Amino acid sequence: MINKKRIFSGIQPSGNLHIGNYLGAIKNWVALQDEFESIFCVVDMHAITVPQGPETLRKKTIEIAKIYLAAGIDPKKSAIFVQSQVSEHAELMWILNTIAKMSELEKMTQFKDKSRKSGIESAGVGLFDYPVLMAADILLYGTEVVPVGEDQKQHVELARDLAKRFNQKFGETFIVPKAFIKEEGMRIMGLDDPAKKMSKSAASEYNYISLLDDEQTIRRKIKKAVTDSGSEIVYSDEKPALKNLINIFCSFSGKSFKEIEKNFVGKGYGDFKNELANVVVESLKPFQEKFNSISDEDVLKILKEGAEKVRPIAKAKLDEAKRKVGFVG
Ligand code: TYM
Repeated sequence: MINKKRIFSGIQPSGNLHIGNYLGAIKNWVALQDEFESIFCVVDMHAITVPQGPETLRKKTIEIAKIYLAAGIDPKKSAIFVQSQVSEHAELMWILNTIAKMSELEKMTQFKDKSRKSGIESAGVGLFDYPVLMAADILLYGTEVVPVGEDQKQHVELARDLAKRFNQKFGETFIVPKAFIKEEGMRIMGLDDPAKKMSKSAASEYNYISLLDDEQTIRRKIKKAVTDSGSEIVYSDEKPALKNLINIFCSFSGKSFKEIEKNFVGKGYGDFKNELANVVVESLKPFQEKFNSISDEDVLKILKEGAEKVRPIAKAKLDEAKRKVGFVG
């Protein structure tokens, strides 16, 4: 454990976790947990920045933790915990709020996207402030590396800026973290629209493949996925829908796009989609079996132990930040 660098990442317990979340984030976490001291969080405080039913939130929180475990996060190697169980996150966020600028938050793409529906005037203050809570998550643990999909890069940049600003104002306190974005899988696009990322909150279920979809559903969704004109299997920016499907194929099978192109010479979209469905179904099968074998009780115990493991780290860093800003200890 000594001298290992620390990684931290999290997922919101909202909507259905999809293969984009897996390929962009969780798959990399599993690979990194031997090399790094790893902390993985279920960020329920982030989830409530848009309306959530309390029962659904509880259910989803347990489901996400189960997904972490089923995907191969090992609680003996990594801490898994729920954000709201470590109140230091909210406290550090407040301190960081006082050095974050409105202009920084206004330009966040995720805020712009999510507030579009209601309009900025009615968007929640929590939604606006969301990236500062994310910065607190990261900075509390002396995190050096943040493994995420590409859509979170801007938020990690803000965490870096806030760390530097705090250090400059109050003295060296926070490690300046780096985003770790693996090219493969970093941006899985919607199956119904390759111009938009695959999203948990998409209006249509044909946008995503959920990690918990059954075989029939996976096959149906892949069959319905939009494709480009022509019929050749080629990996090209001119065929964004097909490119996305090939990316999914590559990420699950470990094959390169060149190999895939070669395998499908003379074959059409139908054959390709059929084979892609086989690869996705086979890849998710062991994961889903493991998911179904884990009980809620086991998960709750692991989450409690995880929170106990990380709380002292968070408390020490928060205390240091409080002292630095001049709070009486
Ligand atoms: P969230 O819950 O939206 O997504 C979880 C992870 O999945 C990645 N991801 C994708 N990767 C590839 N293709 C996609 N279509 C795709 N959609 C989502 C995300 O990049 C992310 O890594 N703000 C974060 C949660 C968070 C967090 C943190 C992350 C809160 N605190 C601290 C890291 C560190 C979010 O909303 O992720």
